[in-house]
Amino acid sequence: MKRDLCTILDLTAEEALRLITRGRRMKREWTDGLLKPTLCGKVLGLIFTKPSTRTRVSFEAAMYRLGGHCITMTERDSQIGRKESHADTARVLSRYVDAIMIRTFRHEDVEELASFATVPVINGLTDRFHPCQVLSDLLTIQEKRGSLDDLCVAWVGDGNNVANSWINASARLGFTLRLACPTGYDPDSGSLERARAQGRGKIVLTTDPFEAVASADIIYTDVWASMGQESEEAERKSVFAPYQVNGKLLEAAPPHALVMHCLPAHRGDEITDEVMDGPGSIVFDQAENRLHLQMALIEWMMSPSAFESALGNA
Ligand code: CP
Ligand code: NVA
Repeated sequence: MKRDLCTILDLTAEEALRLITRGRRMKREWTDGLLKPTLCGKVLGLIFTKPSTRTRVSFEAAMYRLGGHCITMTERDSQIGRKESHADTARVLSRYVDAIMIRTFRHEDVEELASFATVPVINGLTDRFHPCQVLSDLLTIQEKRGSLDDLCVAWVGDGNNVANSWINASARLGFTLRLACPTGYDPDSGSLERARAQGRGKIVLTTDPFEAVASADIIYTDVWASMGQESEEAERKSVFAPYQVNGKLLEAAPPHALVMHCLPAHRGDEITDEVMDGPGSIVFDQAENRLHLQMALIEWMMSPSAFESALGNA
């Protein structure tokens, strides 16, 4: 059966942890020159209706490193921009490629693509979720802390797509998540309710960033205006000013707390230079790990036997 990644809830906790384990091993294998090209002859289709640097380049590089190929489409150079349905796009692309990654606005479009495609579909970010980001962030946290046990993540800023994926991750993996968002900029209520009803993690929502970071191992922030919200930028700047991750906020956190940002950052807005370039910042290792986690993800989807045997034999 083909597997999709529309949200982190598409994975069991065990599957998520196995992807992280395989991603960390692939990182080492690449460094040691031992990475096997397990996707020779495979093709990944990439669809972008929003811009990207990390997601595009990390998926393309991941595919090439594993011996496969990519075809990248945008709305400008494909029929998606001329309103061909996602269902028909899925039916057609499934006959050409071995998996599809899509970054777009409406989450429902990704779900439609996944339900009509006969090949795996990966959500590379929608207005509501960014699962690849948070899965690779968990890899980074495990790498830096040694484990995900007793983890407390503080989210400071907008209750956006990345925040929603953190909620899903907490529900699956059972760590503590403390979100500080201004009133009116809360994360997705459906995700919160589902996580609180079924999830294993403790999720706390506050409007006070100092309260959120007080016992945090990780302080995480993101832009105040996401892609598609450009017209709200000025208004958001004033609402979010008290949520800046700066030296003063870090003083309220435990000394071991690490700072993460999915990037791109708007330095001087949600994060200061001092923090982003400071000793607790792991943002560029975090960006690198997109590549390693996604190598594991595409191997799992397109060559599951190679994935299983690599984990089994390792
Ligand atoms: N973090 C992230 O997804 O970056 P891009 O928008 O550059 O892909
Ligand atoms: N929340 C941001 C994440 C960018 C990777 C956005 O959607 O623009």
